[in-house]
Amino acid sequence: MLKSEILKRLYKDYTKKFINKIILSVLFSVLVAISTSSIAWLLDPAIKKLFIEKDRSLILIIPFLIIIAFTTKGFSLYLAKSTMISVGEEIKKKLQVNMVHSLIKTDTQIIDKKHSGKFISNLTYDVNQITSLLSNAILTLFKDTLTLIGLLSVMFLQNWKLALASIIMIPLAGISSKILGKRVRKVTTEAQEKSGYLTTYLVELFKNHKLIKIFQRENYENERAEHHLSELKNKNKKIAIVFVRMSPVMETLTGIMIAILIFYSAILISKNELDINNFFSFLAAMMLAYQPVRALSTLNMVYNQGISAASRIIPIIDQKNSIKDLPASRPLKISKGEIKFENLNFSYEINEGKTLKSINLEFLGGKMTSLVGHSGSGKSTILNLIPRFYDAQSGNITIDNQSIYETNLSTLRHNISLVTQETTLFDDTIMKNIKYAKENASDEEVYEAAKLSHCEEFINKLPNGYQTLIGENGVRLSGGEKQRISIARAMMKKSPIVLLDEATSSLDSETESKIQNALKILTKNKTTIVIAHRLSTILNSNNIYVIDNGNVVESGTHEILLKKSDLYKNFYEKQIQK
Ligand SMILES: Nc1ncnc2c1ncn2[C@@H]1O[C@H](COP(=O)(O)OP(=O)(O)O)[C@@H](O)[C@H]1O
Ligand SMILES: [Mg+2]
Repeated sequence: MLKSEILKRLYKDYTKKFINKIILSVLFSVLVAISTSSIAWLLDPAIKKLFIEKDRSLILIIPFLIIIAFTTKGFSLYLAKSTMISVGEEIKKKLQVNMVHSLIKTDTQIIDKKHSGKFISNLTYDVNQITSLLSNAILTLFKDTLTLIGLLSVMFLQNWKLALASIIMIPLAGISSKILGKRVRKVTTEAQEKSGYLTTYLVELFKNHKLIKIFQRENYENERAEHHLSELKNKNKKIAIVFVRMSPVMETLTGIMIAILIFYSAILISKNELDINNFFSFLAAMMLAYQPVRALSTLNMVYNQGISAASRIIPIIDQKNSIKDLPASRPLKISKGEIKFENLNFSYEINEGKTLKSINLEFLGGKMTSLVGHSGSGKSTILNLIPRFYDAQSGNITIDNQSIYETNLSTLRHNISLVTQETTLFDDTIMKNIKYAKENASDEEVYEAAKLSHCEEFINKLPNGYQTLIGENGVRLSGGEKQRISIARAMMKKSPIVLLDEATSSLDSETESKIQNALKILTKNKTTIVIAHRLSTILNSNNIYVIDNGNVVESGTHEILLKKSDLYKNFYEKQIQK
């Protein structure tokens, strides 16, 4: 993306809306410029009338005007800044909201490739850089340019020859900041990358803390943490140092300017072309000009940082999804709930070769069908294709003879419940976790589902019952408890199609039978596809498909398969929990 395109985009989507506030801030900036310039200008009458001419009539008025000038400067500065701070925070929020919205609707395939840590770093680090460009930089641009113009006017009014002599120095400062600006852009990109690695690493530390303890890799992780942190430190140090590298340049330039000024003033005074009062007012204006010149010369760097951050954020916001409704999509109408896979081919973007190879499957409406096969054979992939987490490359999936690719996504997903192996819960109350399936459900419905899924018994033992917070990903519950909650959640949905990735975790037989019971209620008269690991599930199935290496190799009932399929027999003997 070109710099100009990025800027145009930032203006159109983020800044334009706040143009009124920005104009207000510019108006306050005008006041800042006027009051700052008046401070310098007032020294002229102060010295001339009060000190040289000893005019007592102005002895109160001039000090009073100085107070007014400073007070006006203070208040208008405050108002200009606070207006832009609120604009900046609004823009920041809008950018972050857009990023998160885009994340929520992103295709599973794209999320698979992303790391949460990188995203978090984009959301905080990069967004701050952009906000800084859109608020601080805009403010600096107006406020300091106007102030500089005001002060230069005072300088010219006091003595144009002196003024000309001193502004020759300004372009020098500009050139040095341009060179430094390029460097800032490069280092900022590197620092962002490092900060991304760090957040990624921290997310993993949290997730894998038991692993670290059991393999006793604390020292290794300490070193890795230190490595990530020192990389980040190096980059941050570089950025900060590039910024302060302006100081010696600016101080030297100021020194040279003042030296030239004094030298030249001495000549002008000796020729009677300059009075002492003009000199002091001029000197004050020049000193006051130091801050705006400095701010303006670092503007280039803030600009570069902001642009390089925006070039990373805009693509995230613009992420195009390939899984979406066709223009002519129709709502899915379920009658029997019969699902068919027709010559379906599928491969994951990041994998070589096909994961599902021209498969044909038929799942009868209202009945349970099992998928069995070794791990990695493609069973979970088959389930994932039905709610369109991924789209097949060729072939078709139909539900009651309607292609799922031609129905609209929301009606499709509305009709499907999914209980996966990794029971995923939110760090919220049990009540909210169960209600997640149905926003406007009553508490009674939740109690009903909890009862049917055998959750009630353990929920009632918890100190806060349904209001118990379950911790990040349910850390405060046992595996079997989490699973029962996710079954209760699926029950709330009452959808005609149920997809189950049956857990392999060996639960105690009592919990196991409770889960079986809960699943039986959940799947009653529903079109159910289950990745089966238990004999009881298999015996309850109307049909079983044996999947091997992305192919459907056999199908039939348990008895038939035992007789005709060696693969199934072998599988049954070794893998099925009886
Ligand atoms: N999200 C994914 N991205 C890329 N490859 C995947 C993904 N999920 C699974 N696979 C690969 O697809 C194949 C089938 O996986 P899966 O359907 O999960 O098998 P099963 O559920 O039968 O154990 C495996 O080789 C696996 O590595
Ligand atoms: Mg699986």
